[in-house]
Amino acid sequence: MGPRSKIIGTGSFVPEKVLTNKDLESMIDTSDEWISTRTGIKERHIASEGENNSDLAILASKRALEMAEIDGKDLDLIIVGTLTPDMPMPSVACLVQCALGATKAGAMDVSATCSGFLYSLSIADKFVRSNPQMKILVIGSEVLSRRVNWQDRTTCVLFGDGAGAAVVTGGDEKGGIISTHLHADGSVWELLTIRGLGTKYPVDEEILSKGWQYIEMQGRDVFKHAVRALESVTNEALTAAGWEKPELDLLIAHQANIRILEYLRERLELPRDKVFINIHKYGNTSAASVPIALDEANRSGRLKKGDKVLMISFGGGFTWAGVTMEW
Ligand code: COA
Repeated sequence: MGPRSKIIGTGSFVPEKVLTNKDLESMIDTSDEWISTRTGIKERHIASEGENNSDLAILASKRALEMAEIDGKDLDLIIVGTLTPDMPMPSVACLVQCALGATKAGAMDVSATCSGFLYSLSIADKFVRSNPQMKILVIGSEVLSRRVNWQDRTTCVLFGDGAGAAVVTGGDEKGGIISTHLHADGSVWELLTIRGLGTKYPVDEEILSKGWQYIEMQGRDVFKHAVRALESVTNEALTAAGWEKPELDLLIAHQANIRILEYLRERLELPRDKVFINIHKYGNTSAASVPIALDEANRSGRLKKGDKVLMISFGGGFTWAGVTMEW
């Protein structure tokens, strides 16, 4: 087995503005009680006017680079998982590349919705395994608040804005990323979609009046697909890593719903402290959710050297992914 890739720095950033469940009570027909019990969310951070995806991504990246003790100019590649770029062109990654002075780095966005960070991390892992000298910045960043319909209580209470980043390079033969697992099922894309403002339904009065610029979700169906896919990729990843369930030290799962996390915890027979939870603070931040959780687990000392960590995610497309690593 050759050298593995390993994460040498993490960072995250969320906008200052906080929107609580109580705030939402005065905006739509909902209650703190409904949102808390159905989702686990208490509040979320929302980008202010003029604050864009790349702004969050750059701030999260600077924190990750600082921890990794490397400069932007040392980076070889920047990969951003996102579904809410500043613009269709250029990519968020190019804006980050410029801001960090990453003059020798390639830059690209990866469109894999909530699995965007783990898809990007998997790509970084393959590059580093073939050239362990490479230094790759992997980011998940979203401003979903501009793509939710603030009149639709079935979706607007769920999402939040934020960014997380990780620096990946070659490690030794122990530790680091062990296996990556990517999956997709486009046959049921309509269960979770933003159908408008692409080439199929370009911007016009009719599309806007239908609200097709916003997220549409069949929550109950998505829930069923999510638990099935997350459980399946968990089993696949544990088998690939050669780990038994009790050996797992930390599960970092996409923060979409506390009930999904609780279901997984029960199926894996894990104690509560082995499942990372921060959904109460941020809501569902799509591609940013796993790297924000990873950074919080890292900075709070929750991750110890040698810990067996499983990261999993699920999102529109559908896409789902799993990554096992030894910290
Ligand atoms: N406040 C108050 N009531 C609300 C509400 C809100 N914000 N949103 C929906 N409701 C109502 C519904 O209208 C419905 O009322 P009815 O029974 O009179 O028709 C009732 O609450 C139950 O709605 P339902 O959609 O069945 O609730 P649920 O238990 O499925 O929870 C979600 C909804 C969205 C929280 C849940 O389905 C979910 O988390 N889905 C998965 C999301 C996910 O995993 N995404 C991952 C990819 S990003």
